[in-house]
Amino acid sequence: MPVVPATTESLDRAAALLRGGGVVAFPTETVYGLGANAFDARAVARVFEIKARPAFDPLIVHVSDDAMLERVADDIPATARTLIRAFWPGPLTIVLNKRADIPDLVTAGLPTVAVRMPAHPIARALIERAATPLAAPSANPFGYLSPTQAAHVERMLDDRVDCIIDGGPTEHGVESTIVMLEPRPALLRPGAIPIEAIEASIGPLARELSDEARPLAPGRLSQHYAPHTPIRIVNHAARVPESERNGAVLLAFRTPVAGYLDARVLSAAGNLREAAAHLFEYLHELDALGAVRIDAERLPMKGVGVAIMDRLQRAGSR
Ligand code: TXA
Ligand code: MG
Repeated sequence: MPVVPATTESLDRAAALLRGGGVVAFPTETVYGLGANAFDARAVARVFEIKARPAFDPLIVHVSDDAMLERVADDIPATARTLIRAFWPGPLTIVLNKRADIPDLVTAGLPTVAVRMPAHPIARALIERAATPLAAPSANPFGYLSPTQAAHVERMLDDRVDCIIDGGPTEHGVESTIVMLEPRPALLRPGAIPIEAIEASIGPLARELSDEARPLAPGRLSQHYAPHTPIRIVNHAARVPESERNGAVLLAFRTPVAGYLDARVLSAAGNLREAAAHLFEYLHELDALGAVRIDAERLPMKGVGVAIMDRLQRAGSR
């Protein structure tokens, strides 16, 4: 099914598809998601198949209200309630104890489930109409660049999904921040909500995962978010020798540099939120140019810059 604009009719149709076990790509404020009814193991299996995603990598479950949260998670700790009040709806994913009805496939057999309540009006309307929580990873083939536009989903997943709802480019451009709270608060993935904001709400988050917690966050494995073109991080493109710019393209932070085949500037004003919003869009564009390499400039490690650098480092870690 082709890409459809979000209208009352298309949302009704997409919701009916979801209730019938279908798979629907939809916009969120972070990236586009590939959704299925979280209680329908067969529909969820199709999501894994479409993405060629390994079964050990669990999905995020998206809810539209508190009642839906209670159908998904159990024994919600007070720290989680504090975060929910502060950041939901929004780009924060919280790992909670799972209820038994959530199929093991969704959580890769873990006793926990990652939950978020998106802020995007189309995502919320779709979940409400489907009247069921949606298990939804990013709508890209496993390991490849994330989609921030309906056209990215169309190009990458095409006729494999039942419907792609177009909501325009996404606002944040990087995925949600993921935290777990037990046994102690820890950051599993930097994302659209800055770590500083979460720590201001509930106190310090452990950053370096213990070996024991590491398998709980397969998204933290290297070789993720990667374009086909090799990518490397450079401190300042202006200091890259001219000979190395030959045949390469540049993802600059604030200013373009001559000598590259082509370049994109993430934010001329040096605004990290603007940079995040363009990150995957520009990487999709640069990846299509057939360059020998993408040089990506290092960004400041503060605010959403931490999430951007996390994606670039994983993209470049092959
Ligand atoms: O912004 C987002 O979070 C987007 C939009 C679509 O909501 N979704 C997204 O999903 O980024 P995905 O599948 O690309 O990343 C989900 C990450 C995985 O890396 C997985 O390891 C982690 O969430 N995760 C899921 N369930 C978990 C659990 N029970 N414990 C720890 N990590 C979990
Ligand atoms: Mg993803």
